Amino acid sequence: MRIKYTISLVFFVALVIIEMENNIISRVSDKLALKQTPQTPLQPSGLSHIPPKHNASFTTLSKMNSAFSLIKRRLENYSQHKEVVTRGRKHILLLATTRTGSSFVGEFFNQQGDNMFFLFEPLWHVEKMLTLETGGTNATASAKAYRDVLQQLFLCDFSLLESFIEPLPVNHITTGLFRRESSSSLCQESVCSPVIKGVFERYRCRTRRCGPLNLTMASESCLQKEHRAIKSVRVRQLENLRPLAEDPRLDVKFIQLVRDPRAVLASRMVAFAAKYKNWKQWAIDGEVPIDDDEVRKLKWNCDNIKLSAEIGLRQPAWLRRRYMLVRYEDIARFPMRKATEMYRFVGIPFTPQVKSWILKNTQASKETSGVYSTQKNSSEQVEKWRFSLPFKIARVVQKVCGPTLKLFGYKFVSSEEMLTDKSISLIEDKVFNFV
Ligand SMILES: *[C@@H]1O[C@H](CO)[C@@H](O)[C@H](O)[C@H]1NC(C)=O
Ligand SMILES: *[C@@H]1O[C@H](CO)[C@@H](O)[C@H](O)[C@H]1NC(C)=O
Ligand SMILES: *[C@@H]1O[C@H](CO)[C@@H](O)[C@H](O)[C@H]1NC(C)=O
Ligand SMILES: *[C@@H]1O[C@H](CO)[C@@H](O)[C@H](O)[C@H]1NC(C)=O
Ligand SMILES: *[C@@H]1O[C@H](CO)[C@@H](O)[C@H](O)[C@H]1NC(C)=O
Repeated sequence: MRIKYTISLVFFVALVIIEMENNIISRVSDKLALKQTPQTPLQPSGLSHIPPKHNASFTTLSKMNSAFSLIKRRLENYSQHKEVVTRGRKHILLLATTRTGSSFVGEFFNQQGDNMFFLFEPLWHVEKMLTLETGGTNATASAKAYRDVLQQLFLCDFSLLESFIEPLPVNHITTGLFRRESSSSLCQESVCSPVIKGVFERYRCRTRRCGPLNLTMASESCLQKEHRAIKSVRVRQLENLRPLAEDPRLDVKFIQLVRDPRAVLASRMVAFAAKYKNWKQWAIDGEVPIDDDEVRKLKWNCDNIKLSAEIGLRQPAWLRRRYMLVRYEDIARFPMRKATEMYRFVGIPFTPQVKSWILKNTQASKETSGVYSTQKNSSEQVEKWRFSLPFKIARVVQKVCGPTLKLFGYKFVSSEEMLTDKSISLIEDKVFNFV
């Protein structure tokens, strides 16, 4: 009688679970199916000498018991964590360094539509606060902070990030979230509080007029979205993010974006002129002192990028189906194809919004190619650096970043002529295929 009662109870609990988790129920129903056909040998090897009819129900029952306690533990987990992996929910982390086109690629996800929560460089605040008087950061301390903040943000929890925002948000309200307007999710109606007269918004939404950002509202909106994506140029080592890949509440997809280091340097010399004034000086006259701090920094950057990519390409178990390497040059030349590949890798549908955004922003059409156009012919952009970076600088980059260039398939140049010869492509066809 008691056994029957227990079985009905288990069955009832199983029915409740159907609503919550499908694979558990399939396991439980396997067990129930076994109960109905007790002659099925449950332990084909070790216990096969035992008359099955006698022991089957006992063994089945104990198996059901363990299934039951698994359900119980899962249920406890449900109540413990706000967030449990929702089937199909993806957490996309776009990893890059500055001047690699990461804002552009970030838009692939920012434009996805209503079921994506996108954050643009939230780690800016963390880096800023952890910057030491020397101008650098403590790599160990910042790696840990980056990891923890990212993990929380993927779970829609802004509390740790808040502690890095200056001035400190009051009641979760801030006027200073870095580049808020670059995240369409943070400028939506549901996250837009009324404008307050006299309060200056450093990063104003472009799509509508919003007051200070209420991070509680942002978190609520995030929880409603199916997928989450974050773009960051601040993570140095992919390996540091292993706990995210292993967090059962997350289904993280890492996309590492790389670019020819020679092109990156050329671009930085223009974009960050003050920081790169030494390079600019060397470009104009004299030799590049190879033991200079700037050169060491360049090498350190290249080595970090290479190390992360090597780990990703090696496909350790914790990264399996979680890592994709993308070259900026391939995105610039074949944006639609690469975007499609990225969406396929992530495992979410490629929406018409993204498609039309890419079309609009990669082709310089008649109407938009005027002097005021901000849209660029991206195929043309890819090779532009070759006419602005002096050969001697390119040679230094090749020397200190050689292995990185090789890994990603960027051809070395051996002369000024080769550098500026447009008929020679410096981009080798390379397939990083592991999806
Ligand atoms: C199977 O049943 C026999 C006889 O009833 C009993 O001695 C034995 O301990 C049972 N085995 C298991 C695994 O419960
Ligand atoms: C419950 O959650 C913890 C941590 O999130 C995890 O390690 C454990 O495997 C989960 N238990 C079950 C039964 O899912
Ligand atoms: C960097 O931070 C770590 C952890 O916070 C600390 O143990 C270490 O001493 C720091 N290193 C330096 C050079 O400040
Ligand atoms: C921020 O949003 C939360 C949730 O919508 C709300 O309860 C709270 O009152 C808001 N804070 C302010 C200061 O408006
Ligand atoms: C962009 O530039 C490339 C290379 O110069 C050229 O082949 C292509 O036709 C251009 N595309 C558009 C839409 O102007």
